[in-house]
Amino acid sequence: MTYKIAVIPGDGIGPEVMDETVKVLDCVAKKFGLDFHYTYLKAGGCAYDEYGDPLPDVTLETALKCDVVMLGAVGGPKWDELPVDKRPEKALLGLRKSLGLFANLRPAVLFPQLADACPLKEEITKNGLDILVVRELTGGIYFGKRATEGDVAYDTMTYSVKEIERITHVAMKAAMMRSKRVCSVDKANILDSSRLWRKTVKEVAKEYPEIQLDHMYVDNASMQLIRKPSQFDVIVTGNMFGDILSDEAAMLTGSIGMLPSASLGEGNIGMYEPVHGSAPDIAGRNIANPLATIKSAAMMLRYSFGLEDAAKAVEEAVSKTLDQGFRTADIAGRERNIVSTKEMGDAVARNI
Ligand code: IPM
Ligand code: MG
Repeated sequence: MTYKIAVIPGDGIGPEVMDETVKVLDCVAKKFGLDFHYTYLKAGGCAYDEYGDPLPDVTLETALKCDVVMLGAVGGPKWDELPVDKRPEKALLGLRKSLGLFANLRPAVLFPQLADACPLKEEITKNGLDILVVRELTGGIYFGKRATEGDVAYDTMTYSVKEIERITHVAMKAAMMRSKRVCSVDKANILDSSRLWRKTVKEVAKEYPEIQLDHMYVDNASMQLIRKPSQFDVIVTGNMFGDILSDEAAMLTGSIGMLPSASLGEGNIGMYEPVHGSAPDIAGRNIANPLATIKSAAMMLRYSFGLEDAAKAVEEAVSKTLDQGFRTADIAGRERNIVSTKEMGDAVARNI
C-alpha cells in the first residue's frame, strides 16, 4: 500500500524543518517496509510569488487527491503589506476550510529531559505536564463576517450548535483515552456565542458520563495554565481562544519548537503541521528546531494511517535524541551541545 503525502514546506523555516521530517519518514519507511509517496506543493508567500495566489488551485486540487497534507509554515515580513486575501495565512485558512479540518489537536507534553528549558519554577512542573488542546478550527471569529467601513472595522464570532457538538465529541473521545477530564474554555460571561458553546458542550457531555467536565473563562484559563498546569488534561475551545492558549501551552513545554499538531475532519484526510510559525528571523540559518514537525509526522502515522508502531518509533527516536543531549538553540537551557537543524534531523533518523 502506498501512502500519498502532500508536502507543503511553505516559507521561512518551513522548508528546513520539512527536509528533516522527510528524512526521518524515509527511515521509518525502510524500517517498517512502508511506501510513502511525496508530492511537493506550494502554498503561502512562495506560492504568491510564483502564482500570484497564496493557495493556487493546483495546490488545493492536488492536496485533495492525497491521503494527508504535511505543512511546514507560511508567512513572513516580505508579504505583510499584501491585501488580506493575498496574504500567506490565507493559504493555511483556505486549506483547513476546504479540507473540512474542524478539529485541531495540539498536545503539549513536557519532556523530562527539557525540564530546565521550561520557564516555570520546577515545583510547578515536577510531576510533568501533558495537556491536549482541542481547538475548533473552521469556525468562530476566524471565519465570521468581517469588514472595514471607513474608520470602523469589525469581525464576528459565530458558532452553530452543530459546529460545537462535533468538536466536543472529538474532545470527549480523546479524553476517554486519557485521564477522562475535559475543561471547556469560553467567555460565557460576555459572549452569546460562548453561552451557546457552554450549553452545547454540557449537552454533549451527557453522552459521556465518565468524563469530568469543567468550564473556565478564557482569561482565568490563561492564568491557571501558568499557575497550575497539572489541573488540565483535555482543553476544548473555540478557534481564537485555542490559537492563543495553544501558544501558551507550547511555551510551558520549553519551546514552541517542540509542539506538533493534527487537524482532522469528518473525512479521512488530515493535515499535520508544527504549532510554530515560519520564524523569518532565523530562516535559512540551519538553526531551527525540526522536532515539532517530526512529531507532527508521528501524529500523521497514528491518526491518518493507523500505524501506531511507526508513530511510537518516531516518538521514541525523538526522546532518545534528547537523552543523547542533542539540543537546538531554542531548547538548549543549560545544555552546551547546540546542534543545527540538520544535525538534529540526522540524529532522530539514526535513532529510528
Ligand atoms: C496557528 C497560526 C495560524 C492561526 C496563523 C498563521 C493563521 O497562528 O496555526 O496557530 O492563527 O491559526
Ligand atoms: Mg497560532
